[in-house]
Amino acid sequence: MSRIAYVNGLYVPHAEAVVHVEDRGYQFADGVYEVCEVRGGHMVDERRHMARLVRSLNEIRIRQPMPLAALGVVLRETVRRNRVRNGFVYLQVTRGVARRDHYFPDPETPPSIVVTARAADPAKGEAVAAQGIAIITVPDNRWERVDIKTVGLLPNVLAKEAARQAGAREAWFVDRDGNVTEGGSTNAWIVTGDGKLVTRPAESGILRGITRTVMMEVAEKLQLRVEERAFTVKEALGAREAFVTSATNFATPVVRIDGQSIGDGKPGPVARALRENFHKVAEIAR
Ligand code: PDD
Repeated sequence: MSRIAYVNGLYVPHAEAVVHVEDRGYQFADGVYEVCEVRGGHMVDERRHMARLVRSLNEIRIRQPMPLAALGVVLRETVRRNRVRNGFVYLQVTRGVARRDHYFPDPETPPSIVVTARAADPAKGEAVAAQGIAIITVPDNRWERVDIKTVGLLPNVLAKEAARQAGAREAWFVDRDGNVTEGGSTNAWIVTGDGKLVTRPAESGILRGITRTVMMEVAEKLQLRVEERAFTVKEALGAREAFVTSATNFATPVVRIDGQSIGDGKPGPVARALRENFHKVAEIAR
């Protein structure tokens, strides 16, 4: 079956889905994106992802390309045309096509929109989670506005590739004070010796992950205590458990950090319980 992408108003074969060389996304990474899980053919937490998209657009002053209801139709149609039951839908909005010049283009320049969808085998994610993942730590060399979900992901790309070359799956960024900020494409969590969940406050240094937000509700339901505070690599190394969250990972246990085992070196019960209960709390509009 051939894949279909939505590009600026048209549904086109994926192989022919192109944007102009002077698209501001290509020239300047002048754009934002969202990744939303698709489960049983439905989008998970669409409302929250769209709210964050609007925030990202506002923060960098790109106008909203179409009303959210219309955008929802495009997302659903892209999912449908690709016959995705389980997988992900990707949405990118850039400041549009204009002659290369750092200043914002004419305000009439229409933003570019690209939507793609792809299937992912849930069994593969489950197998990874059952094993747990290894991570490395790297200095956080990103700009300050990581709260905006921009397509400017070069530090994240380099960090994740460094992780892969070290036999790990994710890299945790560490700020100048030695505190973990977040992963290259995930939020970072630990479980303390007395069973509390710890994750960095979303006010600085991280993207406010939708999965992170929903996981707070899952934790409440499971009567787990959550502490939003910074934690160091040292504290993480001595933690009972560690895990990452994202739309593509839900909660995935971390079993090794920089080559050292976390807890007993196996996925822990807290991360497992959060993962198992995530879709009972996430919003799935049918
Ligand atoms: N990444 N932090 C960063 C830097 C991210 O890129 C992501 C998501 C998250 C988790 O956010 P959420 O729970 O809303 O997915 C945190 C997506 C999945 C990606 O870039 O593929």
